[in-house]
Amino acid sequence: MTEPQPAWSDEGGAARTRALFEAAFGEAPDGVWAAPGRVNLIGEHVDYNGGLCLPIALPHRTFVALRRREDDVVRLVSALAPQNVWTGTLENVAPGRVSSWVAYAGGPAWALGEDGFALGGFDAAIDSCVPLGAGLSSSAAIECAVGAALDEVFGLGLLAAGDAGRARLAAACVRAENDVAGAPTGGMDQAASLRCTAGSALLLDTVDASVTQVPFDLAAAGLELLVIDTRAEHALVDGQYAARRATCHAAAEALGVGTLREVTDLDAALAALDDDVARRRVRHVVTEIARVVEFTDLVRAGRVRDVGPLLDASHESLRADYEVSCAELDVAVAAARDAGALGARMTGGGFGGSAIALIEAASAGAVAEAVANAFADHGWAEPGFLIAVAGPAAARVA
Ligand code: GLA
Repeated sequence: MTEPQPAWSDEGGAARTRALFEAAFGEAPDGVWAAPGRVNLIGEHVDYNGGLCLPIALPHRTFVALRRREDDVVRLVSALAPQNVWTGTLENVAPGRVSSWVAYAGGPAWALGEDGFALGGFDAAIDSCVPLGAGLSSSAAIECAVGAALDEVFGLGLLAAGDAGRARLAAACVRAENDVAGAPTGGMDQAASLRCTAGSALLLDTVDASVTQVPFDLAAAGLELLVIDTRAEHALVDGQYAARRATCHAAAEALGVGTLREVTDLDAALAALDDDVARRRVRHVVTEIARVVEFTDLVRAGRVRDVGPLLDASHESLRADYEVSCAELDVAVAAARDAGALGARMTGGGFGGSAIALIEAASAGAVAEAVANAFADHGWAEPGFLIAVAGPAAARVA
């Protein structure tokens, strides 16, 4: 099935999530909210190094139907296991007490409480068309959908305050992921899910979490962005991500800088490090940040057709220097390029997950088929596909 997976509409997503809520809890929710997954165009593994990233929000979103309670009970249900309602209290959705999707769904309540907001209990039902475990931020989408819902039903006023409020909610969702779910991720995903705008990529500067909207209209250039979900296993809570992060922080310390963003002379920095692994990690981070700047400049100059070599260079750097690619990602990227993609790279954390390929409009079918054939030749399960168009951030949908 090389057909791209469609995204749910507001109405379709809201109806199924509302039905899930009503079946689980026997009453109607206060409303339904949705938050998108993301693909990062470029700027990978730099968000915990003070770097720049350039994600877009996917049209594929996670929906949450939620109802405020007047006690401190929290009940959560997922469409993946509709019979299993998780029941606890606000005290339970805290670090060390919950894991997996319950941490993503309940964690924002704990984090907002830590931020000084007064929240009560709630019932929530979650359903999603963001492919799970595909490196497309399905976990951040849960956090941000629940965060947006809690903001409104408890009158926190964050979404109403515009981007500054959204940034504060994103920070709470990052704490939910870092502290409650225990995944030491960097914050790009929550920023994308809460702060993107339709039709633009989000240039995120992780030094101060400031953002700039960069109009990103592939259709006008006769192009499309194909997302290839390798369906290879991908887990951020494992040690690899944390190890990359630790190596970068140790290298920054050895170089006497706060973050690797401050490295201005790459050759001098490489010469000053005595460990080959650290050198390669630093080279990836510093060159990747430079590629984000070049990519953004090209897009702003109306030259999005010329970004292909930057995508390819990013992939090579992630594969050889940062060592977060895998065979499935490398094959997906190579097959897409052979089938005519202008450029391709892995996106997200890596070790599985998804790749993106910049392709001519209307060539998605042919490129997808070429990738699927390459996977079949290797005896791998069929990959999934979707078309990424820059969508809107988290919002109420019903
Ligand atoms: C994951 C993390 C992000 C980011 C990317 C790599 O998606 O959640 O914070 O570090 O990996 O760019």
